[in-house]
Amino acid sequence: MSTIGPIPWVEAGGARIPLLGLGTWDLRGRTCARMVEQALRLGYRHVDTAEMYDNEREVGEGLHASGVKRDDVFVTTKIWPSHFAPPALERAARECLARLRLNAVDLLLLHWPNPQVPLAETLGALCKVKRDGLARHIGISNFTVALIEQAVRIASEPLVCDQVECHPFLDQSKVIAECRRYDMAVVAYSPIARGTARNDKVLARIGAAHHKTAAQVCLRFLVQQGIVVIPRTSKLERLAENAAIFDFELGAGEMQEIAALAHRDGRLVDWAYSGRTKWD
Ligand SMILES: NC(=O)c1ccc[n+]([C@@H]2O[C@H](COP(=O)([O-])OP(=O)(O)OC[C@H]3O[C@@H](n4cnc5c(N)ncnc54)[C@H](OP(=O)(O)O)[C@@H]3O)[C@@H](O)[C@H]2O)c1
Repeated sequence: MSTIGPIPWVEAGGARIPLLGLGTWDLRGRTCARMVEQALRLGYRHVDTAEMYDNEREVGEGLHASGVKRDDVFVTTKIWPSHFAPPALERAARECLARLRLNAVDLLLLHWPNPQVPLAETLGALCKVKRDGLARHIGISNFTVALIEQAVRIASEPLVCDQVECHPFLDQSKVIAECRRYDMAVVAYSPIARGTARNDKVLARIGAAHHKTAAQVCLRFLVQQGIVVIPRTSKLERLAENAAIFDFELGAGEMQEIAALAHRDGRLVDWAYSGRTKWD
């Protein structure tokens, strides 16, 4: 298997985050460990998991089996909202590390906002976890513009990203602008729209002009804006396909044409997870 070149990164809040990572939601058991190991052998340097994915043990296995040095990999995990009260948050973070077999993660995120626990308490605990050395950086996920602002005001440590659903079919311009305002990276989850980008005619036509697939154009559209992407695949050949996005550039007209695919209601992920239905 040939390897991919060095992966560019973005800097935000003092963190250097590789622009491409492997998403692992729904990867289980041996498939998960194998995909993480192979991705790292191929040249990926960023892996995204969460306590809710119930695969941190396998992600840890893949990390250790790859032989890649710990400091060369950026590992993100996320705390589930039911663990947001301070003692539970610290306990959950320690349990994540035990499952991953790591002393610290590179990035620890609040997975979804939880209106049942005061944000100040949760962020206080998250900042303490960072100060105690369990996480090199901290951040948030699924936070809206209003919640980003609150979180930045409260946190005593930099919040380095908001991980949100982001792909060409969803208008996330407000959240992206808010993150830039506070020196936070945008980490795009479901960056190929859960696989549906491959069927899009505009992306496929633009891809043909660059000898790239629709999925590659979709990912390129994001990284070309400095947005981190964490596509997930369970297929070895797609690891290489999803990584081959740094050797071509989309023109301004192509970027505009792709941006025009966005809708305000283009969300694929169910926000009912959070226990709230209306956000802004
Ligand atoms: N923070 C959050 O709340 C949150 C929520 C959702 C996801 N995430 C994170 O973001 C990651 C990615 O999001 P996601 O898994 O929802 O969606 P995604 O990465 O946009 O799409 C994954 C789907 O696309 C297919 N696929 C992968 N590469 C492809 C390619 N080159 N061409 C065509 N199809 C392709 C995969 O199928 P195959 O397996 O068959 O390749 C899979 O069905 C997750 O794994 C997770 O780590 C975070």
